[in-house]
Amino acid sequence: MKYRTLGSTGLKVSVIGIGTWQFGGEWNKTFEQQEVNEMFARGQELGINLVDTAECYGDHLSECLIGKALEGQRDQWIIATKFGHQFHECFHRSEPRTPKDCLQQLEDSLKALRTDHIDLYQYHSWADQQFFDDDVLAVLHQAKAQGKIRHLGNSVGNNQNVKQVQASRERGIEFIQIVYNRLDRAPENTCFPICEEQQLGVLARVPLASGYLSGKYKPGVRFPEGDVRAKWKAPDLDKKLLEVERIQREEVPAGVSMAEWALAWCLKNPVVTSVIPGCKSVEQVQSNARAVSLIENGLVSI
Ligand SMILES: NC(=O)c1ccc[n+]([C@@H]2O[C@H](COP(=O)([O-])OP(=O)(O)OC[C@H]3O[C@@H](n4cnc5c(N)ncnc54)[C@H](OP(=O)(O)O)[C@@H]3O)[C@@H](O)[C@H]2O)c1
Repeated sequence: MKYRTLGSTGLKVSVIGIGTWQFGGEWNKTFEQQEVNEMFARGQELGINLVDTAECYGDHLSECLIGKALEGQRDQWIIATKFGHQFHECFHRSEPRTPKDCLQQLEDSLKALRTDHIDLYQYHSWADQQFFDDDVLAVLHQAKAQGKIRHLGNSVGNNQNVKQVQASRERGIEFIQIVYNRLDRAPENTCFPICEEQQLGVLARVPLASGYLSGKYKPGVRFPEGDVRAKWKAPDLDKKLLEVERIQREEVPAGVSMAEWALAWCLKNPVVTSVIPGCKSVEQVQSNARAVSLIENGLVSI
């Protein structure tokens, strides 16, 4: 594994993390505690120390599974979670965002994660009007002073939201989370220059373009109803998958797993601190960790 420092936090995070939206039940799979335990145990063996979750991947369900899996190992992990949504049922959320709501969510996350502190606490895709609420920011800084939060981050809803990213340093935000992958390079020209200027850490989310960059889905594929990907527009999907085929043909070296290549591709950009691919099995955790060797062997160019 390789490690990079996450912006001004000083934290050495593994360049490959584990994304866990999948544990909430919206990716056509229900997770048992045993499988989650095995995923984290294997991840730890491979040197992964970063996990990204959220309040609304299930109603604190993903956090609960992680909290149990990391019991006794808490100090070995850097936990990133988020605030600003309430999960009601699959694909239905509300957005409780008063200072009181945020403090309640923080307590609920601490309980679910079985911990007394959250390493990386992130705004979860907030609109500008709410994001710039100083009363919310004040309670977050209070919680930080109490030791319940170590560092504040912003998981930016729109990957061209320069306005929010620009306001990071003045609001005490030390890193962002943003969509970045071989199909969506917008941040290179919008938010990344600001991240460099303000020394912000960058967690690249959706690094596999929701799994499309694994190369295993072909144009015409349709996802089952319980899979969030079934909600997205099909013509757009086919267009993306055609582009994936072209990239696979023209850019991925022969014999290299496209999923591993796609993660290494993100990490070739030095602005990116870590990628946080969503994982559904021990095999995916292992495969994702292997992406590091592609960078070492110079098999990825940007
Ligand atoms: N607003 C936000 O803050 C926000 C939004 C979205 C995501 N996130 C975070 O970012 C994480 C990553 O994003 P994402 O999960 O949406 O997209 P992603 O990481 O691009 O894709 C994840 C999907 O790719 C497939 N996959 C993973 N590893 C693979 C491998 N080695 N080989 C082949 N297929 C593989 C899996 O699905 P299949 O096997 O079923 O294809 C998995 O569900 C999330 O888990 C979450 O923690 C945050």
